[in-house]
Amino acid sequence: AARALARQDLAGERILVTAGPTLEEIDPVRFVSNHSSGKMGYAIARAARRRGAEVVLVAGPTCLDDPWGIETVHVCSAAEMRDAVMARVAASTVIVKAAAVADYRPKSRSAGKIKKSADALVLELEKNPDILSELGGVKGDRVLVGFAAETCELVENARKKLAGKNLDMVVANDIGQPGAGFHVDTNIAKLLYRDGRVEELSLMGKDEMAAIILDRAAELRKLGMR
Ligand code: CTP
Ligand code: CA
Repeated sequence: AARALARQDLAGERILVTAGPTLEEIDPVRFVSNHSSGKMGYAIARAARRRGAEVVLVAGPTCLDDPWGIETVHVCSAAEMRDAVMARVAASTVIVKAAAVADYRPKSRSAGKIKKSADALVLELEKNPDILSELGGVKGDRVLVGFAAETCELVENARKKLAGKNLDMVVANDIGQPGAGFHVDTNIAKLLYRDGRVEELSLMGKDEMAAIILDRAAELRKLGMR
């Protein structure tokens, strides 16, 4: 019933959402990753679908079920996420990059399990492609929403990401605050816009925050189409 009652204000929009961490393999047993649960991105994907958008979700490894009515593309590494996302840019009108992409990956993946021998082991990492920056370069009139996870200088750092990656909006998370960290169902964020505005969102559920993020993305879309 809730689904039938939802306002279909995003009908006609094609929304590409990324969620979860990426996982970079060291050997067949081990990997480098991060604490992202995927909950924020999945909440955005579900809410967008309920409101009538066509949604594609590109998801790193999470414990979450595929959402109803949404094409979910499962990826593992940042390189795979990049390819899955770039293949779907042309068909999208709004892109929300909630995924916590691993910044680095092991320089080489060992085909066999690395055996323990020396007392210390040095792992060499190389930089992953920055998917969001690449999207910023080809965005055209699409609305591009990025996230920023920070432990200090939240607004300043998030502003740099907004400008540097050519975004329309940044959802800045202070991951040090209780209620805004990983794996929880709540979040605290500031929304930053190109015109310099900063909108503070108080502690709320991720579903509620997803609704606000989509409201703002829809407004930005209308402004861009004028
Ligand atoms: N992002 C991305 N590709 C990467 C790294 C990050 O697309 N290789 C995206 C994330 O999905 C997020 C945004 O960039 O929407 C910001 O991620 P964040 O980790 O906060 O910022 P970075 O630019 O990676 O900088 P740093 O980790 O040094 O703060
Ligand atoms: Ca990063």
